[in-house]
Amino acid sequence: MMKSLIAKYIEEISSARIEDFQDKAAEVEKFRIRFLGRKGVLSELFEQFKSLPNDQKKEIGVALNQLKTAALAKVEDWKNYVEQAPELNQSHDLTMPSDFAQRGSRHVLSVTMNEIAEIFSRIGFTVEESVEIEDDWHLFSALNFPPDHPARDMQDTFFVEKEEGRQDVALRTHTSSVQVRVMETHKPPIRIIAPGRVFRNEAISARAHCIFHQVEALYVDRHVTFADLKQTLLYFAKEMFGADTRIRLRPSYFPFTEPSAEMDISCNICGGKGCNICKGTGWLEILGCGMVDPNVLEACGIDSHEYTGFALGMGVERMAMLKYQIRDLRLYFENDLRFLHQFDNII
Ligand code: DAH
Repeated sequence: MMKSLIAKYIEEISSARIEDFQDKAAEVEKFRIRFLGRKGVLSELFEQFKSLPNDQKKEIGVALNQLKTAALAKVEDWKNYVEQAPELNQSHDLTMPSDFAQRGSRHVLSVTMNEIAEIFSRIGFTVEESVEIEDDWHLFSALNFPPDHPARDMQDTFFVEKEEGRQDVALRTHTSSVQVRVMETHKPPIRIIAPGRVFRNEAISARAHCIFHQVEALYVDRHVTFADLKQTLLYFAKEMFGADTRIRLRPSYFPFTEPSAEMDISCNICGGKGCNICKGTGWLEILGCGMVDPNVLEACGIDSHEYTGFALGMGVERMAMLKYQIRDLRLYFENDLRFLHQFDNII
């Protein structure tokens, strides 16, 4: 009886595998206590051994010693195993690939705005930021807008306050207001860009939005000429859209510049041959610009006989649309991750 019990234990010990244990260190200790502990299998069997008839003692004694040796060897073996590979005590599989957290990325408009700022910073322009809620003076009057200009109309501008029947405070409709703030507080030479958010009372569609972004540039110093403007524009266009880019200037009108122009670039999709993006013309309209009107310099306290300047303003959404072929303005503001993740790799 006792002999077969011992044989069963020996069999159990030899077939036990540490690989089957979850928490290996704890299971090994449990095993040790069960067989070798003070009240364990072995001490109990040795106890029973004492009362065996003498003629059985020799045979059973040998078997018991075998069992003891097997249990000791197994525990010793397993302890070494656990010590050498402590990470195996854990229930996780540490060789599994880790679960990556989704990385965030910059919004394509921020990337585009940063790129524009960087291009201008390489030729000495610094960044100026200012308020989004502006008064009539900085938005319109100082910028030479006539009193009856349609931009002063509620239809185009979000007014936030009315004073004694006077429409005075509004969300800025363009970043040209920053020109005024800088010229009022700084002496030339002035060489700044003003990136920022602007607001217009427009119905939202694929081509228009009531919130969008502009970057304005202003350079005021002695002897600034239209040639400086043109060269700056050519440099910017090539840096932004590629070295093969050509520019053309068309006469235009803005209250705050004289003369004024609009700049087109050769279509970066078809290279100027004509396609559906440039509507077959080979040219894409990019920005407005001109020489700062002397009235604006004077309104800001700068002597227009001593100083001249140029200014330009562009829409960031449009820049990004042309650069990355984005077809619908609304995509910028919907925060659909399928759209946003397409720009993960641009910096
Ligand atoms: N402020 C104009 C707009 O919102 C853009 C602009 C045109 C800015 C010509 C300029 C400029 O500085 O010279 O449409």
